[in-house]
Amino acid sequence: MAMHSPYDTVTKSYVAVRPQYPDQWFSKLSALTSRHALAWDAGTGNGQAAVAVAEHYERVVATDISEPMLKQGIPHPRVQYLHTPSSLSEDETVAMLGGENSVDLITVATAIHWFDIPKFYSIAQRVLRKPGGVIAVWTYNDLIRVNPEVEQVSRRLREICRPYWKPGMQYVFEEYRNLPFPFESVGLGCEGQPVELEMPREMSFEAFLSCQRTSSAVATAKQNGVDLLTDDVVREFETAWGGLDLVRTVNFKVFMLAGTVKA
Ligand SMILES: C[S@@+](CC[C@H](N)C(=O)[O-])C[C@H]1O[C@@H](n2cnc3c(N)ncnc32)[C@H](O)[C@@H]1O
Repeated sequence: MAMHSPYDTVTKSYVAVRPQYPDQWFSKLSALTSRHALAWDAGTGNGQAAVAVAEHYERVVATDISEPMLKQGIPHPRVQYLHTPSSLSEDETVAMLGGENSVDLITVATAIHWFDIPKFYSIAQRVLRKPGGVIAVWTYNDLIRVNPEVEQVSRRLREICRPYWKPGMQYVFEEYRNLPFPFESVGLGCEGQPVELEMPREMSFEAFLSCQRTSSAVATAKQNGVDLLTDDVVREFETAWGGLDLVRTVNFKVFMLAGTVKA
């Protein structure tokens, strides 16, 4: 696992501008697990998914590799934030989460592509309750769907960002179709066939730009002294957006896979 998260330097704005996952997703996931004692939200960031999961589970453990991200964790009486540095062994992680066969739901929201996936799955298989425990992973991608013009500039930005994308981003570009997912389907996507969901969000142009600044590639380039969101790109976005004062609906596309441990 990476020693640091690309989000370490943009945690505050990340929390303010990233889209929120709809509550219905969490109701749907919770209906799939047989018990509701313990959930684990991995790569939790500011815990937005953890807090939503906590509406359905007695206790949620929310973990992240980034201490600055965890400092932004939304306080919730049933959510416990824990730091999981890459140096933690599998056994240590399993023990920290509550032991083998103890977790009813694992969620990984827009994060698994950063993980050491074989190590993570090995831990997930151990801690998930058998039978009845469910793991769900999802991501939205970097293309901004407001109108065809904005999407076109967004595709150009993807190319500009390419040298700064970390290897795991390939899974996002492929919309999780090639993400390993060695679990039994529960009817909500399966390996090779993620289910596609929509996540609309109203955004001002300013919020949209801030959201772009929190992209891992833009943040990584910035840490290396390179500004990928040049004045030219911003101007192109502005023209495509149609006016600085317009609030527009941005349709994020989400790709989700859920499953249980194979018998
Ligand atoms: C795009 S953010 C998503 C945060 C949150 N789940 C959400 O949906 O808002 C990805 C998160 O994964 C964390 N992360 C990256 N690599 C990780 C790893 N190997 N183990 C745990 N967390 C990791 C990052 O620090 C970051 O908080």
